[in-house]
Amino acid sequence: MILEGLNPQQKAAVEYLGSPLFVSAGAGSGKTKVLTHKIAYLVKAKGIRPNRILAITFTKKAANEMAERIVKMLSIKPMWISTFHSFCVKVLREDVQILGRSFSREFVIYDTGDSLKVLKNIMKRFNRETKEAGDARDIISKAKQAYRSSIFDHIAALPYPASTYAEVAEEYQKDLERSNAMDYDDLIFFAVGILAASPETRTKWQERFDYLMIDEFQDTNDIQFSLIKLLAGGSKNLFAVGDFFQCIYTWRGSRPSNIERFIREFGAKEMKIEKNYRSTRRILAIANTVISKVRCGWSNKALELYTDNKEEGDIEYKSHADGISESVWIAEKIRRLSRNNAYSDMAILVRMTFLSRVLESVFMRYQIPYTIVSGVGFYDRAETKDLLSYLRFIANPKDAAAFERIINSPGRGIGKKALSNIRQNFRNDWLQALRDTRLTAKQRLAADVFVKTVEGYSNSVEDEPYKVLMGLIDDLGYFAYIEKEYGEDSEDRMENVSELSNVLQALEEEGKPFSEFMEDNLLASEQDKIGKEDSVKILTLHASKGLEWPVVFLPALEEGIFPSAKSLMSQSSIEEERRLFYVGTTRARERLYLSSAESRMKFGQTSFMVKSRYLQEIKHHL
Ligand SMILES: Nc1ncnc2c1ncn2[C@@H]1O[C@H](COP(=O)(O)OP(=O)(O)OP(=O)(O)O)[C@@H](O)[C@H]1O
Ligand SMILES: [Mg+2]
Repeated sequence: MILEGLNPQQKAAVEYLGSPLFVSAGAGSGKTKVLTHKIAYLVKAKGIRPNRILAITFTKKAANEMAERIVKMLSIKPMWISTFHSFCVKVLREDVQILGRSFSREFVIYDTGDSLKVLKNIMKRFNRETKEAGDARDIISKAKQAYRSSIFDHIAALPYPASTYAEVAEEYQKDLERSNAMDYDDLIFFAVGILAASPETRTKWQERFDYLMIDEFQDTNDIQFSLIKLLAGGSKNLFAVGDFFQCIYTWRGSRPSNIERFIREFGAKEMKIEKNYRSTRRILAIANTVISKVRCGWSNKALELYTDNKEEGDIEYKSHADGISESVWIAEKIRRLSRNNAYSDMAILVRMTFLSRVLESVFMRYQIPYTIVSGVGFYDRAETKDLLSYLRFIANPKDAAAFERIINSPGRGIGKKALSNIRQNFRNDWLQALRDTRLTAKQRLAADVFVKTVEGYSNSVEDEPYKVLMGLIDDLGYFAYIEKEYGEDSEDRMENVSELSNVLQALEEEGKPFSEFMEDNLLASEQDKIGKEDSVKILTLHASKGLEWPVVFLPALEEGIFPSAKSLMSQSSIEEERRLFYVGTTRARERLYLSSAESRMKFGQTSFMVKSRYLQEIKHHL
């Protein structure tokens, strides 16, 4: 039953046992399908218990979809379908003490904004420019992804000026540890550190699983490879799928050459699937033409996808005078298509997020329901972050990023000088630091109220976050503060607070602890924000990998946008841009609409645009 409907190549991959296996195959050929069927096959035909299979993917959305497909086949929800990050969180929650540092199991996860705040403070302490914080973050992040046991040595050995961030990195790690906090990269870095350092812990985790599987392998980086290697040990029960031609994250450290490394280092058997099930022939012809100029570093064979899909669907390209008329054209197409298609069957994939603004205004006029997947999400809004930081701080009064975010919102007259004194008094508890710091009478009064408020809720935040939130809004006079702070905009912000309270109320009713909720929403990536509602999705090409829609629009095919101006600076990024075009076109099942504009507004001025080179190349298919 499980093997039914698979083609012979797919079936062979599902049934293969006996050595590590790598399935390399183009977009839409059923890699993810093979992976989920293999899980079902191992459980049904080989009697492996579902909780002894670990399957890793990149996004929570992909992990959830995978879990759903398996539930359909097995009627059991597998326990270990994770993202790299969420798997590492589990390792750390269990074994963080192996690191021999002061982290406890209740550590919090810092998002990018939290990390930047910590780095800005360090820059101030070092008398450097706070605007360097972003560069420092990138360098620290890359150092952790490259996985060297000492980040300090790694950064110190970089060419000047990058090397000057070594001390900053050291200080940053100390600050995070004092806050009992880890950033995203730390999650993998420290989990790998634990598995590498302790043979007993490594064996324990290795023995927990009979089978290890990885999807989208082409986008793994060095440290993720190390993690897989440590977990696999010498096991032959290792399976990965990937497509070199879909690697679109080298700018973030992913290494498509990990595919070849996997085959070599694990002695893996390699299988190929060449048939595409997703898209129509014409769509594939376009994808194949643009990708044919990309060579894979270790194989001479050019990629060529084929399909038996009969139905020809629709492909159309149109040039427009400007961005607005382009958006109107898209809106009218969507309106027509919506007679036979759900809105959620359609997606617009943009190379850059600024492109979504014009689309948005036109869609509003046309009353087309849409969801912008990237951009400032709900949990990134100031008021949501303020209040969640309060809850986070109540749960963990070591959390520096949360403390610094809330100590002056609403204002308590605690200025830079006072804050820097408080920081100096910090040992392992910000409330204690606040008590130990000399403040003016007025500040003292406000600080005491703050301490009392926070302590008053410390026992209830985990189980009753909704009640705590409502109490806090009252205690803090939060609505009056928002009104004063944001004036006209305050209504919208109050709506957001109300939405947050809805979320927490549901959580409380479900009986899910607050810390678990925070973890989920910190680990959510851009792609995970895609809801199930019936709306047209607008998202970046990067966020679209692994997904598919019957109807896809690719607007703004212009030089400087797609390919992006920055990508034209190096041969390798020109190739990555082509891979991105290949990913974008192969998201479409039946209809693909391409467009460009002759002019666009940039910085308030009209710029004239040149059509993308890709349009020239695929001309004969349009
Ligand atoms: N043997 C098959 N018969 C019918 N449909 C199939 C078959 N194999 C795959 N499909 C369908 O083709 C589509 C693409 O499959 P899947 O998402 O697994 O491909 P993929 O190789 O993982 O793609 P991507 O490279 O984009 O991640 C899905 O809709 C899937 O159900
Ligand atoms: Mg896939």
